[in-house]
Amino acid sequence: MCGIVGYIGPREAIEYLITGLRRLEYRGYDSSGVALLTSERHLTIRKSAGRIDRLEAILGGIPAASVGIGHTRWATHGAPSDINAHPHLGGDGEVAVVHNGVIENFQSLKRRLESDGYKFCSATDTEVIAHLVASCLKLQPPVEDMAAVQYRPLVAVVQAALSQLQGTYGLTVIFRDWPEVLIVARLGSPIVLGVGDGENFIASDASPLAGYTDKIVYLADHEMAVLTADSMRVYHRDAGHVDLQIHTLELKAGDMDMGSYDHYMLKEIFEQPESIENAMRGRLDFDAATAKFGGLNLTPQQLRSMRRIVMTACGTSWHAGMVGEYVFESLARMPVEVEYASELRYKNPPLDDHTLIFALTQSGETADTLAALREMKRKGHPVLGICNVVGSTIAQESDGGVYLRAGPEIGVASTKAFSSQCTVLAMLALYFGRLRHLSFSAGARIIHQLQELPDKVRQALQCSDKVKEVAAKYAHCNNFLYLGRQFNFPTALEGALKLKEISYIHAEGYPAAEMKHGPIALVDKHTPSVFLMPHGQTYDKVMSNVEEIKARGGPVIAIVCEGDREVGRLADDMIEIPAVEEFLQPIITVIPLQLLAYYIAVARGCDIDKPRNLAKSVTVE
Ligand code: AGP
Repeated sequence: MCGIVGYIGPREAIEYLITGLRRLEYRGYDSSGVALLTSERHLTIRKSAGRIDRLEAILGGIPAASVGIGHTRWATHGAPSDINAHPHLGGDGEVAVVHNGVIENFQSLKRRLESDGYKFCSATDTEVIAHLVASCLKLQPPVEDMAAVQYRPLVAVVQAALSQLQGTYGLTVIFRDWPEVLIVARLGSPIVLGVGDGENFIASDASPLAGYTDKIVYLADHEMAVLTADSMRVYHRDAGHVDLQIHTLELKAGDMDMGSYDHYMLKEIFEQPESIENAMRGRLDFDAATAKFGGLNLTPQQLRSMRRIVMTACGTSWHAGMVGEYVFESLARMPVEVEYASELRYKNPPLDDHTLIFALTQSGETADTLAALREMKRKGHPVLGICNVVGSTIAQESDGGVYLRAGPEIGVASTKAFSSQCTVLAMLALYFGRLRHLSFSAGARIIHQLQELPDKVRQALQCSDKVKEVAAKYAHCNNFLYLGRQFNFPTALEGALKLKEISYIHAEGYPAAEMKHGPIALVDKHTPSVFLMPHGQTYDKVMSNVEEIKARGGPVIAIVCEGDREVGRLADDMIEIPAVEEFLQPIITVIPLQLLAYYIAVARGCDIDKPRNLAKSVTVE
């Protein structure tokens, strides 16, 4: 949560800060702010509750500055307000800080600093960091030429402050009296540095850097960096100075444009044929009738010795993990458990030595998933990360993994990441199956089915106009049920989550047959049930569930295979999708559900890409 940016160099800092904050707005958007430092040692702060537009509106008349920091917030401590927005000043304004993370011991530090005479304006944990740095600065003996000693005394000051914190941070500090330097530090919250020509950049992820530089450095936990316009030095808390590891940024500024779409979410829904194609590119091995992956970092022998898989994730990624459970059990005949990362991290499950962990995540930064990954690694289990964001913390900390290659997903509601995760899991299940019992001909058939998938998704997207009509009819309803069985049960959960997230309508996903054990009590003429019922082994059973809902006066929206005439006699509305093999159905059935949530939210005038109370990546516990 929260996005931070920083700039030092010859350009107007505010231009990069605002561009960067706009690109990071998905991380949090309840307030934002900037601090700018002119060479005359003047610190100007502007901050405002609300979106970045509100911040831009109050930037008039600010002095030209070539050093600055910025922040876009998702509130943890203290309500979203002008006062609680970052940056926060420390001491008498000697330092300004932007911070992403949570300081768990901020109350005790605050009490101590208050008794030392420091005045707090906000309810945030971050203000404690600013005052702590200021208090450590006071203890620092004067240094005549800071540049000559490579700002090491300032590093020591920040380090002294950080050593008192318990919690997580990705933060940047600017100093009123040393306008030629920025200090940045990381523990638990991501920081990416951009290396420019006579200028340097800071961001919470690489997206703000696209178009500014393609040379990037990922800061690791316990590292600090000292940036001037033409130098960048990284220090590790224990190891001292470390060499810069410069990576090339592939992302282009245009990759984040919305194009002709009204919202990122709609664009990302329609990108799915291509994102699925990208997930499969070069990974289907026709000769061996299997899938192949470059970065698993485990030998086929090691993978073959695994007897069990635990998939861990949050939210939509967790739903993809549940799809993975059905797919792995059916294609690879391996036992799979799917655990919420937030539960797994505090659990002590009896896992044997032959247990492989999959950490599924779009952002690669979700705090709970990262904590679960670390806990599983601590216990000695190999972890494969199935991640979208290249270079993200989970991608770096996994023992091996598979990138989704879905491109930037900016809409807070995850769409294309889900279908790419399901695609990657299907390929992995094929690979694991072929290491075990799955025959060559079965493998070849699955490859053929996978190859057809992008076109099937293209066909599924043609239901968009029909879904829009259905959405208009039901947009006033306040409760929805989503029902599906087997492979389509996780999709029902995902459909309900999409609707909740962006249209604020209560929705529940349930296994269709389980509905009669309780949720059926919710059914009335104002509560539509969305049935996922493509052809498959449970089709007739689900049909009986439709009858049960109709008998109780509930409206039914049925997602069916093209040409299905049977459901028509019962359903109030039908949305047709192309037929695919059962293990691939979630990738197709989710399309009308994503569109339904989207069009209902549009009809209700909701903020599609930035729904209330949410943020794209949840980097706090
Ligand atoms: C999905 O629409 C949500 N915004 C959310 O549930 C998300 O999937 C979850 O926070 C996990 O994120 P990750 O995939 O980046 O780890």
